[in-house]
Amino acid sequence: MVRLVQWVVAAVVAVSVAATAVQGDGALHDPAWRRVNQSDCPYDDTGDSCTGATVEGCKVKCAADPACGGFNYPHGIMKKTDCSAHISTSPTVDLYLLVKDISVNWPPIWPMPKSYTNGTTNLKVDGSKFGFFTTTPSADLTAAFSRFRPLFFPHRTSASPAGATRGVDVTVHNSSVPLQLYADESYTLSVPADGGNISLTANTVYGAYHGLQTLSQLISFDFTQQEYVIPGAPWKISDAPRFPHREVLIDSSRHFEPVETIKDVITSLTYAKINTVHWHLVDSQSFPFISPTYPDLAGKGSYSLQERYTVDDVADVVEFARQRGVRVVVEIDTPGHAASWCAGHPEICPSAQCQEPLNPATNTTFNLIAGLFKDLTGGARGSGLFPDNLMHLGGDEVNTKCWSESPTISKWMQDHGLTPDGAYAYFVNRTQAIARGYGRDVIGWEEIWDHFGTSLDKSTIIHQWLPKSSIAINATKAGYRVLWSTDGAWYLDGLSVTWQEMYEQEPCTGIDDHLCDTLVLGGGGCMWGETVDTSDIQQTIWPRMAAIAERLWSPRSVISAAQADARFRSFRCLLNRRGIAAAPANNPTAREAPPHPGGCLEQ
Ligand SMILES: *[C@@H]1O[C@H](CO)[C@@H](O)[C@H](O)[C@H]1NC(C)=O
Ligand SMILES: *[C@@H]1O[C@H](CO)[C@@H](O)[C@H](O)[C@H]1NC(C)=O
Ligand SMILES: *[C@@H]1O[C@H](CO)[C@@H](O)[C@H](O)[C@H]1NC(C)=O
Ligand SMILES: *[C@@H]1O[C@H](CO)[C@@H](O)[C@H](O)[C@H]1NC(C)=O
Ligand SMILES: *[C@@H]1O[C@H](CO)[C@@H](O)[C@H](O)[C@H]1NC(C)=O
Ligand SMILES: *[C@@H]1O[C@H](CO)[C@@H](O)[C@H](O)[C@H]1NC(C)=O
Ligand SMILES: *[C@@H]1O[C@H](CO)[C@@H](O)[C@H](O)[C@H]1NC(C)=O
Repeated sequence: MVRLVQWVVAAVVAVSVAATAVQGDGALHDPAWRRVNQSDCPYDDTGDSCTGATVEGCKVKCAADPACGGFNYPHGIMKKTDCSAHISTSPTVDLYLLVKDISVNWPPIWPMPKSYTNGTTNLKVDGSKFGFFTTTPSADLTAAFSRFRPLFFPHRTSASPAGATRGVDVTVHNSSVPLQLYADESYTLSVPADGGNISLTANTVYGAYHGLQTLSQLISFDFTQQEYVIPGAPWKISDAPRFPHREVLIDSSRHFEPVETIKDVITSLTYAKINTVHWHLVDSQSFPFISPTYPDLAGKGSYSLQERYTVDDVADVVEFARQRGVRVVVEIDTPGHAASWCAGHPEICPSAQCQEPLNPATNTTFNLIAGLFKDLTGGARGSGLFPDNLMHLGGDEVNTKCWSESPTISKWMQDHGLTPDGAYAYFVNRTQAIARGYGRDVIGWEEIWDHFGTSLDKSTIIHQWLPKSSIAINATKAGYRVLWSTDGAWYLDGLSVTWQEMYEQEPCTGIDDHLCDTLVLGGGGCMWGETVDTSDIQQTIWPRMAAIAERLWSPRSVISAAQADARFRSFRCLLNRRGIAAAPANNPTAREAPPHPGGCLEQ
């Protein structure tokens, strides 16, 4: 019985494939049905039903009806369109969608490029003799070629088919542009249909990496011939990101994230052209960074002596990221979110019972911050352990109660004519001045805008995070740059937010186009670490981070999650094939394991 059922489904697949051209990314093996757990799909009936039939019976009936896009089971009501985002309260209802047109996985590229044209030739690629050619002398580029070869050609084959393309010519106009915000990431990629060399041109190595990433996604393996093909040649792709700053936040305080784990995350980010790691290095729970100037911070403030980073560990991560075109922006959150500092340096905290925000009333606090920042930045723009020209100083969720309750601090506030809010402003101002003195532009969470508005230095970048806040609108109007990472939308620790919801966010809502283009730098997904360590970080980040990645890279008009669905699923399967633990795309709650047997694309 089970065998018969599988045969029926396979027959449907074969029909779909015969009706369409050969596609990239596993299309020959796409299942024709996709099941969405607990979606009751209350609208868009085709007016027919398959009540009483088995699931397989409904599949046959639906496949035969051109108006049917799927059906609910057990109700057996046939549906016209994908309404998978509607989650039912009934645990027994599931939606089965008919994947009629597998060519919707087109182009087989994630995130969607700015512009492309393709043809219809199935171009063979010589996986055994393929060359990466360049006249640009760059060790970074040569290292990238070694990394990309196994991504281009994950299956061993000795096939060297006639008419195949045998290499890519890579031209980089300036290979010494430093990796900083606004570095040019554009590229053009041209794949001729006649077997000549593929050509990739970019202004920087970072653009070249993105072009190679795109090319790696175009190449697919034909399991029948056991050779590589690029479907849809000739290709002409002209691509560049919409926003220059596309980040994921990782949090190494709520849980320690080992160096190898962070490197694996960075590798996976490059697959979706994410270009920044926002490293929320320390917080109230633990202080894992061994500051050479103040070693007691981590000596006493880490979870354990093994859960710490040496300077060399951090340098290793930053260099690993740099080689892949990924910036690392460090966040040192003060004056709140800093209780872990008190274990090693109680003198900078209000009291043993009331530890944060850090004590504003003594220069010891600011001297320590200056020493720590110097350890991190080397004291000059573009240099040091974190050479990025941006530094995040947090500044969020400051509750000044401990200041008012401390006799010395409240006396100090009185002597200086400061309210608690004024003391908060003083703290932020002094801390920002230290970072700017080391050549850094400062990022702060949106509370600093609430409290200080246009008295903030014009170079300050406001990081929006509160739901429904109009900060990004107000701050850009006043000429400030912003980043966008709304809680409830782009917080990856929000496990019930679906990828479709993440996908359909728009950071520039309500913002004039020219301010959007110049002052909205981008933003990203926040992987807060309360419930995340090495055991589950990848499947919590992926695949939803891919939805954010496309929003930040692709043109604003690319906004429909329904249209992106097949490409999204294919990309998550690509992540799995590359060994990334991306969770199923259907899950009502992020990072759950697949619920039952099934193909990658349908889960
Ligand atoms: C649907 O998801 C719920 C919640 O994760 C789970 O308890 C249930 O077993 C799933 N149902 C099926 C049919 O997979
Ligand atoms: C691009 O490829 C798609 C999918 O194979 C195909 O339907 C389309 O006709 C191609 N475009 C051109 C202009 O050939
Ligand atoms: C390459 O970029 C660097 C850094 O931006 C710049 O100093 C140099 O002049 C550029 N070289 C060329 C040939 O444009
Ligand atoms: C591809 O480029 C390499 C290096 O420039 C060259 O040796 C080779 O002849 C080219 N192949 C074709 C088919 O043009
Ligand atoms: C504290 O630091 C400030 C700013 O550097 C300086 O003006 C002030 O004199 C210092 N206070 C003491 C007591 O050293
Ligand atoms: C920060 O300090 C500068 C002088 O150093 C002052 O002009 C500015 O008003 C201060 N801003 C706030 C928010 O206190
Ligand atoms: C943004 O500006 C509007 C209009 O001035 C104001 O009503 C609103 O409170 C501001 N929002 C924030 C979060 O500052």
